[in-house]
Amino acid sequence: MRTVLIDYRRVKKPLNWKNLIVEIGFGRGDFILELAKKNPDRKILGFEISGISIGKLIKRIKKESISNLYCVQLDAYWGFYLLLEEESVDKIYINYPDPWFKKRHHKRRLTCAENLYLFSKKLSKDGEINIRTDHLPFAEYTIEQASKIKAFKIHFKKLCVSNPLTKYEEKWLSMGKDLHEIILIKEKNPIPLTIRELKEVKMLFPIKVKGKNPVLQKLLGKEVKLEERIYLRFFKVYRGSSGEFLIETLISEEGFVQRFFITLYPKGEVWIVDISPFSQILRTEGLQKAVEFVAKEVFTFP
Ligand SMILES: C[S@@+](CC[C@H](N)C(=O)[O-])C[C@H]1O[C@@H](n2cnc3c(N)ncnc32)[C@H](O)[C@@H]1O
Repeated sequence: MRTVLIDYRRVKKPLNWKNLIVEIGFGRGDFILELAKKNPDRKILGFEISGISIGKLIKRIKKESISNLYCVQLDAYWGFYLLLEEESVDKIYINYPDPWFKKRHHKRRLTCAENLYLFSKKLSKDGEINIRTDHLPFAEYTIEQASKIKAFKIHFKKLCVSNPLTKYEEKWLSMGKDLHEIILIKEKNPIPLTIRELKEVKMLFPIKVKGKNPVLQKLLGKEVKLEERIYLRFFKVYRGSSGEFLIETLISEEGFVQRFFITLYPKGEVWIVDISPFSQILRTEGLQKAVEFVAKEVFTFP
């Protein structure tokens, strides 16, 4: 059976894929499955943060023996950032991304200028982003953000939908709502913009410490700002079967969040502090710094 779920932590990056069609936030998956069926000789890639949606799509891909559809469980920003080459995507679809537009006030909506900048860099010449929404303020926000980066020709129109309807289309149409479509066609490269970056490293190195017994209690529940835009949070400490300690840790680097375990175990005269091999992680500079921080923080020296 081919791999349907791309593990962004393990694959060689960026993916060497061209002329891609991407859907961001595919939800129940009707739209992306149809895309795959309509374009059998193209690779179709979906980004979704919901594990439930990912699981459902994988089942349907297998059941319907679809061979050109792949998915990644990751925020689309980081998915584009980590996995896709410049000018490798022909079309991006974003359908009904923000049903609670008014209630939430987060800085980084899916169609903020920073995201659109990154998406536009990955679009091929004349590539386009197709966005559907039921919500006019969301459409206005998106058009304003898209205008900022000066990469797109912008079209905005009332949408005439065809089957299959996405879950949200079914919902909005049954409520008699008008639906809208924004089409952003790439005309040129965007103007320069500073965007969030994530520094991956090839290897993470364990730290050896010539200290006495570690005092882990002081880390529990603690939140630490390691440096600008890198935060750590420590949860519980567990004792492993071979006497090692495991600290449940969360790191946020530029908003990219990973949960993992830091392990500490004695080896001869020293203690080793390392990322536990049971952690599923993307190797980033921040993780190395987290290990270094713990190694400094928890030992007492004679
Ligand atoms: C309102 S639902 C719409 C689902 C589907 N497109 C439809 O029309 O029925 C929005 C979807 O986008 C996903 N989503 C939200 N932000 C995302 C992001 N930054 N990256 C990837 N998926 C995201 C959510 O998990 C959710 O499944």
